[in-house]
Amino acid sequence: MTHSLAILRPDDWHLHLRDGAMLNAVLPETARHFARAIIMPNLIPPVVTAADAAAYRDRIMAALPEGAAFEPLMTLYLTEQTDPADLRAAVESGLVKAVKLYPAGATTNSHGGVRDFDRVRGVLETMADLGTPLCIHGEVTTPEVDIFDREAVFIDTVLDPLRRATPGLRVVMEHITTAQGVAYARAGTDLAATITTHHLVINRNHILVGGIKPHYYCLPVAKREEHRLALREAATSGEATFFLGTDSAPHTDALKEHACGCAGCFTATNTMSILAHVFEEDGALDRLEAFTSLNGPAFYRLPTNTDRITLVKGDAVTYPSKIDTGDGTVTVFDPGFPLHWTVK
Ligand code: NCD
Ligand code: ZN
Repeated sequence: MTHSLAILRPDDWHLHLRDGAMLNAVLPETARHFARAIIMPNLIPPVVTAADAAAYRDRIMAALPEGAAFEPLMTLYLTEQTDPADLRAAVESGLVKAVKLYPAGATTNSHGGVRDFDRVRGVLETMADLGTPLCIHGEVTTPEVDIFDREAVFIDTVLDPLRRATPGLRVVMEHITTAQGVAYARAGTDLAATITTHHLVINRNHILVGGIKPHYYCLPVAKREEHRLALREAATSGEATFFLGTDSAPHTDALKEHACGCAGCFTATNTMSILAHVFEEDGALDRLEAFTSLNGPAFYRLPTNTDRITLVKGDAVTYPSKIDTGDGTVTVFDPGFPLHWTVK
């Protein structure tokens, strides 16, 4: 039985750090284990220009604990006003590594997102030319479409036509939650998919059975068990298409435990412990490194990290159930089973 596992230091290819007091509190949780992360731009107001991204990167670097080595990989929030020339300069300078597409209204702070895809054609063509990945929140926002079907409908009605219309555009399907997402990602070229920690652990029953669990509510919402199993199979396959994007998305407890609770699971603190558990359970510990440390940099055309972390298995480890922030407490995702793996 394996009790110790050294892997190249992981990266997180989808992370919400927020700003201000929340940034100060959550950044150390990620920087403890991860070398880099793709930083989501859905602040209020969003990160839309190169200047916004440079200023946000400076705020992140200023919030890093003394001695911590962490590189934020900045993204721009795509709007119908995004200027292809500003984007090109931001990518060519190395500041911006990806662009995020939120269909307007799909999730937290997405009202400034894209409504008419024809209006972003010039930007998408620039991105195809630069090889810059477009990170897509893949859910339709049409009120008639059931929330549990929004990802599958998006793939057929938006994503596939968009990719056909922009040959060469490199796309990351963010936080996929369905077997359809797995199958579509697997079949494509210039296409990858991130998978979160929590979607490997929970299905929709966890949210709704025995009382509503606001800390398991995120977007895209967790689906049926068969979909969770498809995600497990994809993540543990080692295939280059799939890599970790935790989508760790802190909201204060006051805003989660609310009549209209915010979407997001906060997993930065215990992600590596949970993933080691999941991969071991599926007999795939030897493929954990591909998922957390190799496949992401390969798709983003960045070097892999060179140092390693060591995961060790022993007595049950406990994490704080909440972390304090200047804005209020944030609940750490509870996987619902004891964790025995920890980063040494
Ligand atoms: C994210 C957030 O809170 O910013 N919430 C979530 O449930 N994942 C937004 C997102 O990634 O959809
Ligand atoms: Zn997210």
